[in-house]
Amino acid sequence: MNCMKPFNVVINLKSGELSPGKRVIRRVSDVKALFVDKEAAEKLIRSGDPLVYEVIYADVPEEEGHLGNCTTIIYPGKVGEEFFLTKGHRHEKLGTAEIYFCLQGKGKLLMESVDGDWEALDMFPGSASYIPPYWSHRTVNVGTEPLVFYCIFPADAGHDYATIEREGFPKIVVERNGEAVLIDNPNRKGC
Ligand SMILES: [Fe+2]
Repeated sequence: MNCMKPFNVVINLKSGELSPGKRVIRRVSDVKALFVDKEAAEKLIRSGDPLVYEVIYADVPEEEGHLGNCTTIIYPGKVGEEFFLTKGHRHEKLGTAEIYFCLQGKGKLLMESVDGDWEALDMFPGSASYIPPYWSHRTVNVGTEPLVFYCIFPADAGHDYATIEREGFPKIVVERNGEAVLIDNPNRKGC
């Protein structure tokens, strides 16, 4: 029998701080492989290696029946013309969904299904995006403030980062004339 007691975490709706929580930090050096402009990435690393994003997880067992939950904070910035983004993943248990509830900022949620379809949803304070089973997901901060969102997912879903790192997403998000624009990913590899 699972005798875990109910508990609260406290989320700062502006900063995304989740307490108590376990924090994962990604700097440009951790995610440079995701960006097209490698030279711009190396330049950023040499000039202080800024934070790209942080994820703060509530302490929940990664077991069937539990709900994993976390906040993600993506800082504003670009590598070349490409906006800061998360590594992105699909769930090891492909048949599991997730909800992203945006608290602050302006973003794009990029998704790709196992059938090769892709979608991009706008993220804005109050948007609750439903990521169905069988869709990879990655988030991009297209604004000038931190993009902050709260995620809820089956705790035993698992995270497969390698497939997306190897293949890339069909689209990337770049700034053109002050606007966030989706263009084909020149580094996209076949499945
Ligand atoms: Fe996920």
